[in-house]
Amino acid sequence: MQPVSFTESATRVQRSNLKSAAWGMTCAALAFSFVGMSVPVKGQQNAAPRMEVLPLRGAISLYDKACIRCHGPGGSFYGSELGKGKTPEQLRKMVWEMCIAQGGLTVSQREVDAMTAYHRSIMHSEPYVEILGTSPTEVIGEATPGSALQLQIGTKVIPVTLTENRWHAAIETTKAATIIATRNGKTTRLPIALGKFTLHQQ
Ligand code: HEC
Repeated sequence: MQPVSFTESATRVQRSNLKSAAWGMTCAALAFSFVGMSVPVKGQQNAAPRMEVLPLRGAISLYDKACIRCHGPGGSFYGSELGKGKTPEQLRKMVWEMCIAQGGLTVSQREVDAMTAYHRSIMHSEPYVEILGTSPTEVIGEATPGSALQLQIGTKVIPVTLTENRWHAAIETTKAATIIATRNGKTTRLPIALGKFTLHQQ
């Protein structure tokens, strides 16, 4: 279970402990069932490495759960003013406050960072990609719906299927790999590592 870190507000931690414990259990169960379902190599079930999985809540599913009703699919109701005049820190604070006040969410620091990165992707019309689970043979994550995804391993490039905002791919080797997302002529690249997400640099 991923511990919920909540240093920004000690008082809220108590209020949210029960809820987050329930979430953690749900996520652990989900993660376990995913591992169970996805034994990757025929005939080698016993040797299949376990997947390291974060609570299965990427920024896009959190947004769709808690923000979409006011801000629209993919942030389409924000308009071009989103984040205007805000520093990255101010945007993060706004996202964090919205998660609590409007979204009713209990969120970890990493989830707030990911949600902020997702908003920065929306501001720059770039595809967002996040990695939620990895093993030497498989990787799972989220990406902006409608993106074309590819996994690059060495010189090899394989297509990856995106179903709504979810993707998973079998990685055959333990070589460094990169997930590449393209949408409306914009491309983002993310080296595969647990918990990483694309972050607009400007
Ligand atoms: C009940 C409606 C509602 C929900 C749900 C909601 N918001 Fe908001 N949000 C607003 C309103 C209204 C504003 C504009 C007023 C303001 O700035 O406080 C806003 C403003 C924002 C802004 C600033 C936009 C800008 O132009 O810079 C961000 C970022 C944001 N919300 C993120 C979120 C996130 C993330 C969630 C989900 C966790 C969320 N909101 C859920 C109503 C909502």
